[in-house]
Amino acid sequence: MENDTLTITDNRTNKTYTIPIANGAVRALDLRQIKTGPDDFGLMTYDPAFMNTASCHSAITYLDGDAGILRYRGYPIEQLAEHCTFLEVAFLLLNGELPTQEELEKWNQAVMQRTMIHENVKKFMDGFHHDAHPMGILISTVAALSTFYPDARILSNPLCNRKQIVRLIGKMPTLAACAYRHRLGLPYVYPDPSLSYTKNYMNMLWRRTEPTYVANEVLARALEVLFILHADHEQNCSTSTMRAVGSSNADPFVTTAAAIAALSGPLHGGANEEVLRMLDEIGAIENIPNYIAEVKAGHRKLMGFGHRVYKNYDPRARIIKRVAEEVFEVTGRNPKIDIALELEKIALNDDYFIKRKLYPNVDFYSGIIYQAMGFTPDQFTVLFGIPRTVGWLAQWQELLQDPERKIARPRQIYVGQEVRDFVPITRRAQVEMAAV
Ligand code: ACO
Repeated sequence: MENDTLTITDNRTNKTYTIPIANGAVRALDLRQIKTGPDDFGLMTYDPAFMNTASCHSAITYLDGDAGILRYRGYPIEQLAEHCTFLEVAFLLLNGELPTQEELEKWNQAVMQRTMIHENVKKFMDGFHHDAHPMGILISTVAALSTFYPDARILSNPLCNRKQIVRLIGKMPTLAACAYRHRLGLPYVYPDPSLSYTKNYMNMLWRRTEPTYVANEVLARALEVLFILHADHEQNCSTSTMRAVGSSNADPFVTTAAAIAALSGPLHGGANEEVLRMLDEIGAIENIPNYIAEVKAGHRKLMGFGHRVYKNYDPRARIIKRVAEEVFEVTGRNPKIDIALELEKIALNDDYFIKRKLYPNVDFYSGIIYQAMGFTPDQFTVLFGIPRTVGWLAQWQELLQDPERKIARPRQIYVGQEVRDFVPITRRAQVEMAAV
């Protein structure tokens, strides 16, 4: 459109600039021409936490936070959760289209054939403390995979990159299951490529002495749906980490390890674990009003509520609520669901939450389901990381193909000391707060 431009007048110089607008955005570098004189570096934008900065073009996930819409490659999340398997959605995210029957069979086989881990990885596992947090184990062992697959460093060959992607998707549940069993002191179970992705994971987690572990169909499907819902979510904290680290041409194993680290924080994927702790702390429905009062007084956060992008009901939370009922039919009702439902009801009618557009996010209900299925809270973020690996890798692949790709390197606004002369140690003043 001819008028897709922005005209800016710099009141410092009275100069006017016209810069193009494309896809609802101006290029930050176009502002660099706005200067007060030849020594001026040029205008920058200041955007801590990237509240209003797009860092890439992406064709993978569409998210409208105001309308509560989430689509993978154009398909509504509700339809994918209803009709697809997790690996089918993984194929879609990575390739842009849903697979044909033949493509799906080949893809399933390719991933399931890559579920084995090198025997030496088990030795790393054994080195961890019995109570090591599984996210710490996952970060370390995924990074360690880099040393087993030196070909992963060659990023110029798309086929080689694809091999690493399949390896990572295949091995993630195996590593996660080993981390789980290490904690319990149970022997590791080898993957069974004849099973589906989720049933194989359940087999590696829960098989004891029986010759064949038979996963409950409802629970396996619930896990499949939860994996689909968590597979991608555009440029969130961990995905941005994936892109930032990937932009330095680091190999996909160490890059994925960095993304897992970002996911582990309680403000991101670690929130599902925190929700369970919060519900335990609340303990009973009659304690909710006091808890809400503490949240409103700013003493704590309502974990599983709020989102940087969703200012409406998270569509994933809506699907998860339905899955919860199906799971409880099998496992019996997790009493925490009643506290959660009441908490949601009270919060959604309270001015504090209405004014700030705080709604339940994906983490609010997922932990309750996982607990009912037999997972301990420290496993919840791992259950987020396994499927999100697909999204990270789809985004990483897109990054590698992006003609505008450059190493990620934000600017800063320096607010420190001006230049000053060195002070010898005998003449220095003591620095308060510098205790080591
Ligand atoms: N409980 C209480 N108040 C909240 C919450 C919450 N969960 N979330 C935000 N607020 C309040 C803030 O205090 C702030 O209030 P103010 O305007 O009076 O200062 C206002 O709402 C805006 O919040 P911000 O922190 O500016 O929102 P931001 O977009 O930076 O944060 C975040 C988003 C991190 C998700 C935040 O809502 C939060 O901490 N939620 C709890 C943790 C959580 O559930 N994380 C999972 C996110 S989804 C995911 O990663 C899978």
